[in-house]
Amino acid sequence: MSAISRRTLLKGSAVTAACFSLGAGLSARSRAAPSPLLLKAQFIDARLGNDGVTRKVMTYGTGDAAATGMPPVIRMRKGEPFAARLLNGLDEPTTIHWHGLRIVNAMDGVPEMTQPYVYPGDSFDYAFTPPDAGTFWYHPHCNTLTQMGHGLTGVIVVEDPADPVFDAEIVINLRDWRLGNGGAFLAPFKPRDAARGGTYGTIRTANWQQEPVYDAPSGGLVRVRLAATDVTRIYTLGTEGAAAMVIALDGNPVETPFPLDRLDFGPGQRVELVLRMPDAEGTVVRLGNFRGSSPWTIATLRAAGASLKRDIRDMKPLPANPVLEADLSVAERIPLDFTATAEHAPAPSICGTLGYTFWAINKVPWPGDTLDPVAPLSELKLGRSYVLQVRNRTPHAHPIHLHGLSFRILNSNKRTILPPPTDTILLLPDEQAELGLVADNLGDWLLHCHVIEHQKTGMSGYFRVA
Ligand code: C2O
Ligand code: CU
Repeated sequence: MSAISRRTLLKGSAVTAACFSLGAGLSARSRAAPSPLLLKAQFIDARLGNDGVTRKVMTYGTGDAAATGMPPVIRMRKGEPFAARLLNGLDEPTTIHWHGLRIVNAMDGVPEMTQPYVYPGDSFDYAFTPPDAGTFWYHPHCNTLTQMGHGLTGVIVVEDPADPVFDAEIVINLRDWRLGNGGAFLAPFKPRDAARGGTYGTIRTANWQQEPVYDAPSGGLVRVRLAATDVTRIYTLGTEGAAAMVIALDGNPVETPFPLDRLDFGPGQRVELVLRMPDAEGTVVRLGNFRGSSPWTIATLRAAGASLKRDIRDMKPLPANPVLEADLSVAERIPLDFTATAEHAPAPSICGTLGYTFWAINKVPWPGDTLDPVAPLSELKLGRSYVLQVRNRTPHAHPIHLHGLSFRILNSNKRTILPPPTDTILLLPDEQAELGLVADNLGDWLLHCHVIEHQKTGMSGYFRVA
């Protein structure tokens, strides 16, 4: 029944948390909330590529013992309280943002805006109830190019007791690392790349491993959850060796599951698949990235045991989440133009300015991570419907993420299939789209590009819901 990788079993590292069958692992802990899950941000040494050990990798550990691998997959339950205590074992301030969870503003993890910085040695208690089931993730919102780039990105699974049962589940945290000789970290970005598509890593990993292999039951239905937590890379997902159906995107079930052919997803986004494993033991299925001219393997699934002989049509639909639909007859329209900008002197920020301004929303380049002196993009009234008229006036794709609220892509000049409600749209070059939402969550909610270099060089802003 379980889909545990052989390498993982051998290593016995925290990576085991990434991959286990339903009902196991951290779910027992979160069900007993609100006893808080300890998340200690800390430095470790880790072997990420083939060229030595990387020092000062950042991760979260859950106990008193030092962490040994990637941030744990956190399991929560839809509609049930969850609590975590962030302890800062780093040498700089940090916070945790719960990407995609529609929770109260005070728990959103944006320093200066929703909470104070958590300084080294200090802690902060998060407590909230996730309203939606699906795949989400967590990361700091402070000096993020470095903190996320050096390891602080983890996956969240919000379970729904009404979910159909699969034969196995595999969770994949997809990201790169910028490493040089001997495995040392390289500078996190190059300005000329930040002004274009972003600076890429040098080592590509799934669950902090290069091309991991996971066992999954022969002939079984496997739920695969992938989260793109890299600071830059856009993936084009495909499979070889088995058919797969897309069942959820960015934390909401698709209305009608469709076969996975090639699917683009960018930083911040998630994809959930159901795969039907081949019947013959030892047969492999490859999950690959097909973007660009040389496709590469993300991870391999290997059929194990006697065939369960399942039929992909046995799959039951996932229950919907309670996302409100905008009332288009009364919705106010808000234009949002995403552009390049002339260089300005960046405003000082104690939380990780990159020292450049390349991008703007409605002509305003955001000055780093501090609030002032920028006004909200717009003030929204609690409970009202809005349509964001987004226009990408650049030749680059931008994964635009909105905190605290989910929106639906109503139309677009670049797509025929529209996804379910989401928190992140991968805005394609020259795309114009309309996004419908109900402002049903009070507070200040960031809207930014999730290519972190773009976010940090101007492509960021916020809405105030009051
Ligand atoms: Cu995933 Cu403002 O972030
Ligand atoms: Cu961008």
